[in-house]
Amino acid sequence: MRHQSLLLGGIVLATLAFSAVQPASAADTKIERVYGTYCVQCHGLKRNGTGVNLPALSVRPRDHTDPKGMGSLPDDEIFKAIKTGGLSVNKSVLMPSWGGTLNDKQITEMVHYLRTVCKCGH
Ligand code: HEC
Repeated sequence: MRHQSLLLGGIVLATLAFSAVQPASAADTKIERVYGTYCVQCHGLKRNGTGVNLPALSVRPRDHTDPKGMGSLPDDEIFKAIKTGGLSVNKSVLMPSWGGTLNDKQITEMVHYLRTVCKCGH
């Protein structure tokens, strides 16, 4: 009996530890990590266009928290800017193309994620 409850306690603890690292929404957090890997150096940890590269850039990276600026961009333009770079949407070449790094599904997720960052869902 004693052994059994110890074992049960162990399982409960293990489950708790596991659920603690499980994000509320796995997809969002995964794409947030992608943002943290490839986008923050320019767009900033605060997502407002103030990454560490800012002083080296002649064009300021888009403030992703700005509902007006981001709200004026349709989803397909955001998708295209990410996939094929700033130049492809008549913006700065300083916005790199990520089509070789991220697949279409990830880019679509990124567009949705950016809509939550700017609170300007379409
Ligand atoms: C090397 C710096 C740099 C990196 C890294 C970078 N960006 Fe940008 N990004 C820019 C700059 C600069 C602009 C502004 C271009 C302009 O307004 O002409 C921009 C603009 C944008 C825009 C707005 C496009 C538009 O049509 O106005 C989006 C969306 C965007 N970036 C998303 C991302 C995402 C997502 C990532 C990561 C996968 C990323 N950027 C990584 C520099 C960067």
